[in-house]
Amino acid sequence: MNIFMTGATGYIGGTVARRLLDDGHRLRGLVRDAGKGRALASFGVEPVIGGLDDAAILAAEARRADAVINAASSDHRGAVEALLDGLAGSDKPFLHTSGSSIVADDAHGDVPSEKIYDEDTPFEPVPGKQARIAIDRMIRDARSRSVRTIVVCPTMIYGNGLGLARDSAQIPGLAKRAKASGVVRHVGQGLNIWSNVHVEDVADLYRLALAKAPAGAFYFAENGEASYREICAAIARRLNLGEPQAWPFEDAARELGENSAAYTFGSNSRVRARRARSELGWQPRHSSATAWIEAELPL
Ligand SMILES: NC(=O)c1ccc[n+]([C@@H]2O[C@H](COP(=O)([O-])OP(=O)(O)OC[C@H]3O[C@@H](n4cnc5c(N)ncnc54)[C@H](OP(=O)(O)O)[C@@H]3O)[C@@H](O)[C@H]2O)c1
Repeated sequence: MNIFMTGATGYIGGTVARRLLDDGHRLRGLVRDAGKGRALASFGVEPVIGGLDDAAILAAEARRADAVINAASSDHRGAVEALLDGLAGSDKPFLHTSGSSIVADDAHGDVPSEKIYDEDTPFEPVPGKQARIAIDRMIRDARSRSVRTIVVCPTMIYGNGLGLARDSAQIPGLAKRAKASGVVRHVGQGLNIWSNVHVEDVADLYRLALAKAPAGAFYFAENGEASYREICAAIARRLNLGEPQAWPFEDAARELGENSAAYTFGSNSRVRARRARSELGWQPRHSSATAWIEAELPL
């Protein structure tokens, strides 16, 4: 297939691109920077110079492709609208990357949640996540415009990326800060729990979904969970540092930004990928973020 991708230079997109190239697909990828465009070309993806605000480019690329994968941003509504406009009436697949902070709470690291969601569990989103949920809904509803829309909603992703970007923001981000300061810190008490998934298993799910997901489908991607305290303890062991320490929410918010401190690092997000397993036959191979950290997190 001829596939147009956004985010092909990124962590998720690069890994998905690697797998799709290995499968024999031809890829064109949106890229903002000419230098990165040359790197993308060497990787095997034909660069399309532009950004997520370039609606005309996005719509034209979507129109000429056999399938579109949006892996640049879970939150850029304008890009999604442009890509759907380009695909309307075609019945071609559009696979969008959401993120499981849609079920996040306001624990600020201090409370482990008992709540576990699958794709059919109703939930009350926190105000900060309503815009992302509205985008997911708009995409699923666009099946009525004759687009085979699919939303994949990964949890915390770990593992080394197979594309131009090796690292994700969460675990390698915490490790980078810990190396610089000599201390691993979790927001609040670090009792909050996140589901997680290996990046190569995520890429396998994208391949399966592209091949056979029905229009309007939504899939969580998850194969295990850990509290941030457990994640940070594994980072501390890997880096030979002392016990992780609590990071007061206000201090974390000043350094990481309010949204990131609250939802990426301070919330609970416990989900189960029931539909990916039962509908698509997805069989993730990696099951422990902490084992990966201790054995493979780049030092
Ligand atoms: N990593 C996770 O654990 C995870 C889990 C669930 C959901 N998500 C969500 O999935 C999305 C991708 O995550 P990621 O970890 O792959 O992030 P990433 O490594 O930062 O990659 C983002 C990609 O999008 C591109 N991009 C960003 N803004 C753009 C713009 N305005 N125009 C054109 N390209 C743009 C980047 O291009 P450049 O190379 O030019 O920067 C890069 O290729 C994010 O919205 C993230 O919140 C991530």
